[in-house]
Amino acid sequence: MGATATVSIRGMTTADLDFATALTRAAGWASESMDSFAAFLAHDASGCFIAEAGEEKAGVCVATRYSRHGFIGELIVSKHLRVLGIGQLLFQKALDHLLAAGLENILLDGDLNAVSFYEKMGFRKVCRSLRFRGKFKGKKYDHIRALRPEELDRVCGLDGEFFGDDRSFFLRRRLESFPRKCLVAEREGQIRGWIMARPGDGLLAVGPWAALAAEAVRLLRSWPGLQEGIHSWRMVRGPSARLGDHPALYAIGSGAKG
Ligand SMILES: CC(C)(COP(=O)(O)OP(=O)(O)OC[C@H]1O[C@@H](n2cnc3c(N)ncnc32)[C@H](O)[C@@H]1OP(=O)(O)O)[C@@H](O)C(=O)NCCC(=O)NCCS
Repeated sequence: MGATATVSIRGMTTADLDFATALTRAAGWASESMDSFAAFLAHDASGCFIAEAGEEKAGVCVATRYSRHGFIGELIVSKHLRVLGIGQLLFQKALDHLLAAGLENILLDGDLNAVSFYEKMGFRKVCRSLRFRGKFKGKKYDHIRALRPEELDRVCGLDGEFFGDDRSFFLRRRLESFPRKCLVAEREGQIRGWIMARPGDGLLAVGPWAALAAEAVRLLRSWPGLQEGIHSWRMVRGPSARLGDHPALYAIGSGAKG
């Protein structure tokens, strides 16, 4: 393929789930899974894009709309088709989708290698987006138990307060799909914290995860068995930098997925 003239961008369908998942796997994004893309499609298929170079599927990108903020993620181009302009076309399509919706702020988590690309697209760095990985043995605590469906409204409300926008679609779907991976901490009849995880590629991806009145980052850094990996940059295009940076949040998951 020699020029961008043969490249087209179209909406993603369920027939593209295998392709999109193969791209995240090849990129080593172990916290992604086919279910992540299925969730995006169920939430807003009009924000999920596939690039094609001639007849060949070439890349993916997803734009997620919340009520006031938007989030762009999952930007990947097949390795042998990079540096031909496809990434930029995909990203522009996702950005236009969110700008057309009139959202105040558009955010993303930019890997270090892609930061200058996003800066050219009008984004600026807000803070480091930390990543931790570790191995743990399960342990039972009296105050930790399964999140009950009737408590979901309360948890979605708290998540909205902490995260800064309404991600209830993703949190509801999470509880329906992976009820055994959604827990709350209860003290004196009150929910004091919650954690929701989902299976990734050979690991559990954790987030949202919050505990009221905790200093999350300090605790994570002092936790035995947990290694801090290479961070990405939370970046924004728009006036507000404050999404998902509440001190009681251990992990937002991804801004896009909950
Ligand atoms: C990032 C990525 C999507 C770019 O896709 P692409 O189709 O190669 O990008 P484009 O050809 O549209 O190039 C866009 C810009 O990035 C630059 N660029 C692309 N790949 C680059 C590289 N490996 N190193 C430095 N710059 C690069 C291009 O020069 C271009 O800049 P320009 O407009 O000033 O010329 C692609 O490299 C990729 O899939 N990487 C792996 C996944 C990833 O890191 N995704 C982003 C995570 S936040």
